[in-house]
Amino acid sequence: QTGKFTYDPGFLSTASCNSTITYIDGDKGELLYRGYPIEQLAVHADFLETCHLLLYGDLPDAQQKKDFTARVTNHTMVNEQMQFFLRGFRRDAHPMAVMTGLVGALSAFYHDSTDINNPQHREIAAIRLIAKMPTLVAMAYKYSAGQPYMYPKNKLSYAGNFMHMMFATPCEDYEVNPVIERALDRIFILHADHEQNASTSTVRLCGSSGTNPFAAIAAGVACLWGPAHGGANEACLNMLGDIQKMGGVEKIGDFIKQVKDKNSNVKLMGFGHRVYKNYDPRAKLMRETCHEVLGALGLENDPLFKLAMSLEKIALEDDYFVSRKLYPNVDFYSGIVQRAIGIPVSLFTAIFALARTVGWIAQLNEMIGDPEYKIGRPRQLFVGSTPREVKPLAQR
Ligand code: SDX
Repeated sequence: QTGKFTYDPGFLSTASCNSTITYIDGDKGELLYRGYPIEQLAVHADFLETCHLLLYGDLPDAQQKKDFTARVTNHTMVNEQMQFFLRGFRRDAHPMAVMTGLVGALSAFYHDSTDINNPQHREIAAIRLIAKMPTLVAMAYKYSAGQPYMYPKNKLSYAGNFMHMMFATPCEDYEVNPVIERALDRIFILHADHEQNASTSTVRLCGSSGTNPFAAIAAGVACLWGPAHGGANEACLNMLGDIQKMGGVEKIGDFIKQVKDKNSNVKLMGFGHRVYKNYDPRAKLMRETCHEVLGALGLENDPLFKLAMSLEKIALEDDYFVSRKLYPNVDFYSGIVQRAIGIPVSLFTAIFALARTVGWIAQLNEMIGDPEYKIGRPRQLFVGSTPREVKPLAQR
């Protein structure tokens, strides 16, 4: 019994850590950051306020927000040397391969000035990472497009600055559409943290050795890339494209037959979750954001959105999914929104990493800040060979 929350002993026996940051109730489909329901944060807060909440434990007041925003803004540029890391990649390298390299490379600039056991150093590392991720993701995109990098502009909002660095060129400014800016900011909020998911557990385990936070976050980026995790939004949009090519809504039944065929290994991407056995609350908010953005952009007849809603309706009435408690997760609609606001599909997971960086670093700092923490050392159940003698080669 911890305050309002009661856990069964079975759950606690599998818990990897105590945390005060994010609470999920998988059966009820509830998600709270530091006690605030995600549905309220998505409407009444912005991403930088949510970053403040995740890092410091509460939403900022007006002055705190001003100071925090100024600190993040003043760290949005990256060392000019970072451009040379990009040059080593092929232009068509996957952005998550590039991001794994770039975030790890940040260590080269800051690791020797970062004492992970110093709370001030942990805080400045958090600010630097939150500030620089949009710049690095935009640089990865510009590099793939063969366009010059765009420097951040301090007068723009966090989401507006990202869109500027992505789509402005030296020849043409990018006019930030407020609907797109708000939608992107909400996408960041919805992806900011999610308790002990695979990539967050990776960051905690990696950081528990005392390595610098930039290297630990790079490990999280690498883990998030997988299609079973953060790569699902890209995979989901590709899946919708494939169904469209098969014939669209009329072919949903054929696709679902493939999913049900055990030998096909075809998954309904964007559906199912290790913890949610109910509707992922983020998916509901993402679908609302879809409606808002597509409506504002005159794309309400977007065929992929219509296909996604038909697919969701059919799956939610199909016993295969109902009996397995498979519901849409955060990745089911996020790709459609990002595609509508002009983000290339290959960048979806990099944007997930951009948003999740605050959750990773908040969880890492929570662990390191606990004087009782030790290096992680998962154990195993050994089911291999019993002891045996080595025979000389001639007798093998
Ligand atoms: C994220 O942990 C987090 O918090 C992650 C995340 C975060 O914010 O960090 O929420 C982000 O990673 C969301 C998940 C994104 N992944 C996808 O959308 C990929 C598609 N989903 C599946 O790969 C799957 O649902 C997982 C990996 C997410 C969960 O897999 P599990 O743990 O095996 O799911 P399960 O145990 O509930 O599966 C029960 C059954 C199994 O079939 P049976 O063996 O009982 O016959 O349902 C099947 C699974 O094979 N199943 C699916 C399915 N998901 C599970 N069948 C078809 N399509 C699916 N999507």
